[in-house]
Amino acid sequence: KVDGDDIYYTLTAQTGSTQLLTGAVTQTWGYNGSLLGPTVLFETGKTYHITLKNALNEVTTFHWHGLNIVGPYDDGGPHAPVYPGGERKITFTVDQPSATLWLHPHPCPETARQVWNGLAAMVLIKDDHERSLNLPADWGKNDIPVIMQDRTYYDNQLNYQKSYDVDGTLGEYPLINGTLNPYFEVTSPIVRLRFLDGSNRREWRLHFSDNHPFTQISSDGGLLPQPVEFDHLMLTTAERADVLVNFSDYQEGDVVTLQTDDLSFLTFKIGKFDPEDLNLPETLATIPDLTPDDPEPTFHTVMSGMDDEVRLDGKLFDMQRIDTRQELNKVALWEVTNTNDMDDGMIHPFHVHGCQFQVLKRDGHDVYANEHGWKDTIGVNPGETVLIKIQFTKPGVFMYHCHILEHEDTGMMAQIEIY
Ligand code: C2O
Ligand code: CU
Ligand code: CU
Repeated sequence: KVDGDDIYYTLTAQTGSTQLLTGAVTQTWGYNGSLLGPTVLFETGKTYHITLKNALNEVTTFHWHGLNIVGPYDDGGPHAPVYPGGERKITFTVDQPSATLWLHPHPCPETARQVWNGLAAMVLIKDDHERSLNLPADWGKNDIPVIMQDRTYYDNQLNYQKSYDVDGTLGEYPLINGTLNPYFEVTSPIVRLRFLDGSNRREWRLHFSDNHPFTQISSDGGLLPQPVEFDHLMLTTAERADVLVNFSDYQEGDVVTLQTDDLSFLTFKIGKFDPEDLNLPETLATIPDLTPDDPEPTFHTVMSGMDDEVRLDGKLFDMQRIDTRQELNKVALWEVTNTNDMDDGMIHPFHVHGCQFQVLKRDGHDVYANEHGWKDTIGVNPGETVLIKIQFTKPGVFMYHCHILEHEDTGMMAQIEIY
């Protein structure tokens, strides 16, 4: 419902059933439907009144991953339970640039299972600046969500317990926007793909079957300063990347597939359209250069271990404990170290709630070409220290944690109070 600049939404977490390609029906969870949810659209500058309802048989929360929002109740972390049959109302004004974000549950320690069962939705922010760039914006035609997840079925059913891995649950089959083996019919030369790694643990090392290039225009928190061309792109859990693909050099009837090293997950069937050149401005967005109040890092976080040995600063999460504090609007440097073994340790994707940050250095070196924009999740490689610059513009208590959902549920999470 829309009332001037005020917009009203209701989101209900519910159970349902989904038909798989085999024809079998499996129990799934979703927002306002049986699996995943509607794409939630926000406009910068508008005010949203959202009613969050829980039609499940257990507690859930509604976490706005990537949104600059007051913590911890509006933000929807573990402090904001919605009980079965209950609801919670939140109101906020969107004051950040266009971006691809997402919504997922965050009840500690049940996040991984609830996401696995199907609770996740894409969230878009749109603003006038992005509109002025005339990027592909025809939703479903040349602007498409690509929510990447992976699942295993037992007797055609999702079964979290049987699939469970304490180091992050992997699935055998790619599930893209909730669909096994989907294809997309390309009817425009230039298509925007909004990749969201919505999986519990999987890193997606994306490339086309013919290594066709694509251009990344946006990272977690919005447009990159400059477009970056790749033929391979890696996303860790919860990261987003919007890319433009120019299909003009294919012929009608061609087929090309997006894949990782071990999963082939999205087929593009080339249809009819007039070829076009990709004409992007050299500068997509201006990212403000924030000056840290202290030139030395204020925060140091150590992510350590694997399986049930994972720790954040040597500790497990305690909801009653504030781990660190920071003044509203101050700019700080934050050093994050992954102490895992360089050769066989795993990446821990580091995520902070309630803000977007900038990544300055990886082990003292330049960051990857697509890390010059706003980020809220960053894959920290084994043995590596990543330096980020961060400013919170909303008060409250916020989580920071590893986004491998089973690591988070084990307790690889802490909280910062912004005052
Ligand atoms: Cu994607 Cu603590 O969240
Ligand atoms: Cu989050
Ligand atoms: Cu981890």
